[in-house]
Amino acid sequence: MTVEVPGSRELPTVDDTRALGAELAGLLHAGDVVVLDGPLGAGKTALTTGIAAGLGVRGRVTSPTFVLARRHAPAEPGRPGLVHVDAYRLLGGEDPDAAPPSPTALADQLESLDLDTALDDDVVVVEWGTGFVESLVDAPLVVRLRRGADTDVRRADWHRAG
Ligand SMILES: Nc1ncnc2c1ncn2[C@@H]1O[C@H](COP(=O)(O)OP(=O)(O)OP(=O)(O)O)[C@@H](O)[C@H]1O
Ligand SMILES: [Mg+2]
Repeated sequence: MTVEVPGSRELPTVDDTRALGAELAGLLHAGDVVVLDGPLGAGKTALTTGIAAGLGVRGRVTSPTFVLARRHAPAEPGRPGLVHVDAYRLLGGEDPDAAPPSPTALADQLESLDLDTALDDDVVVVEWGTGFVESLVDAPLVVRLRRGADTDVRRADWHRAG
């Protein structure tokens, strides 16, 4: 069964979040961009793990804390790889005094990641990209993850922007 877009789902456990990622991967092709929205610990990286599994790319997905982006090559030639971007530090990270960067500065930084190449060959997943990635690419898949207090349950909703 193919997951529908737009859609929403309750995710009781991290495995449910990964399973949703794997299902969403079935919709993705080289050149697609996925924007993951949601607060710290919402499950953005967990969802990315599922997308990576669904795409069948190499390497373990981790939070790219010290690098802005990591590329996972396809396990089989001819299939898309995965570029996993964490824009948290681009946005100022933990520093509450950091001035928010301008959209142009963000676009410049993203350009330095050589996303153009990625956009030909790979699926690009961006954590913390809401608000600027939409203006840089056509019709990204936007996935929002939310959680309540004192519960592991997440709620995901997703749609194609633009
Ligand atoms: N239903 C759930 N879905 C996703 N993660 C869950 C769920 N329940 C518990 N967790 C746990 O919550 C944490 C989510 O962490 P994850 O790194 O995926 O969040 P994140 O949104 O990427 O955070 P950050 O903004 O720091 O990058 C993991 O430790 C995971 O095991
Ligand atoms: Mg993360």
